[in-house]
Amino acid sequence: MTLAQRLLERAEEIQSEVIDWRRYLHQHPELSFEESKTAYYIEETLCAMGHMEVSRPTPTSVMARLIGSRPGKVLAIRADIDALPIEEDTGLPYSSGNPGVMHACGHDGHTATVLGVAKVMAEHQAELEGEIRFIFQHAEELPPGGAEEMIAAGVMTDVDTVIGAHLQSPVEVGKVGVVAGPMLASPDTFYITINGKGGHAAEPHRVIDSIAIGAQVVNNLQHIVSRHVNPMDPLVVSVTKFIGGHTHNVIPGSVELCGTVRCMDLELRDEVPKRMKQIIEGITSAHGATFEFRYEYGYRPLINHESVTKTIAETIQELYGEEALYTIKPSMAADDFSAYLNSAPGTYFNIGAGRKEKGIIYPHHHPKFTIDEEALLIGMKVFISSALKLLAK
Ligand code: NI
Repeated sequence: MTLAQRLLERAEEIQSEVIDWRRYLHQHPELSFEESKTAYYIEETLCAMGHMEVSRPTPTSVMARLIGSRPGKVLAIRADIDALPIEEDTGLPYSSGNPGVMHACGHDGHTATVLGVAKVMAEHQAELEGEIRFIFQHAEELPPGGAEEMIAAGVMTDVDTVIGAHLQSPVEVGKVGVVAGPMLASPDTFYITINGKGGHAAEPHRVIDSIAIGAQVVNNLQHIVSRHVNPMDPLVVSVTKFIGGHTHNVIPGSVELCGTVRCMDLELRDEVPKRMKQIIEGITSAHGATFEFRYEYGYRPLINHESVTKTIAETIQELYGEEALYTIKPSMAADDFSAYLNSAPGTYFNIGAGRKEKGIIYPHHHPKFTIDEEALLIGMKVFISSALKLLAK
């Protein structure tokens, strides 16, 4: 048997152990930047495997370096480990024991899958070339996110390729998806205050109406997407909050707005806040109001590397046949895996984890969200086979 075949067979043998890890993590979820017990559990589990240098790049993250017996490439595999502020309502026997906190995005599954890959790989350390770096990252769910902190701590130093995956409950288990190029957007946020002059609602000529001006700002911001930008370039500008006023007969002196801007192109990303400022400036000055505008950059757009994506796609086809592979439809959601892709070429792929017939139909971040645990073994196998190819390249 080839090394690859033996590794895949071993992955099958430890499937129930990986499911146990996932269930433990599911029962003990922790919020972003607070993953102390999670990190400890991961560290202990990795240390018990042997053959790896285990470290803590930040207080709640873990890294394990598995150095093969022969020189070769350095491959990083990333799993995110944090949970969400959601009250679980799945009724599962291993439901969250931490009230108000839930693994409702599948990061428990990501962690268990990559722990399983680490175990199988560590057992075969003597036969491996190069280095595999297992990155268990905290705080994917809460900007500014954990990825940049980990990179600043040096986890990507000398890394040649980086891969990661997300479980997907809207996709049936057995399917695995990839896409080359843009996959997820940059989620930037903005805050606008419009300062007019408040007064009696019966005397509008004596006030500078921040509500009427704010409404025009909201309308005109829509023109950025519909009239300023090439329709072939994806862009979202959404005002998600508009606060002002207290009662029916007083025009308030100011209103506050905030929202999100999402796109997949770095040039466009620089352009949008400039356009926004022009529009806000023009409208407010035309009506005698003033404004404050703050724009905060979030995660980078996630753009997958062509050749690494191809390697993963080939692996999926070899393991599960052509029908298992699907092409991910890019979306305006975000993931700070994009930070690693800014340090090294790589790809982020999706592992189907839904199953209608078992009632596993709820979307991510839903109180009834769950996964089909079959997906964990599928993910392990794709990681293991791809890793062998990427280490040899
Ligand atoms: Ni997630």
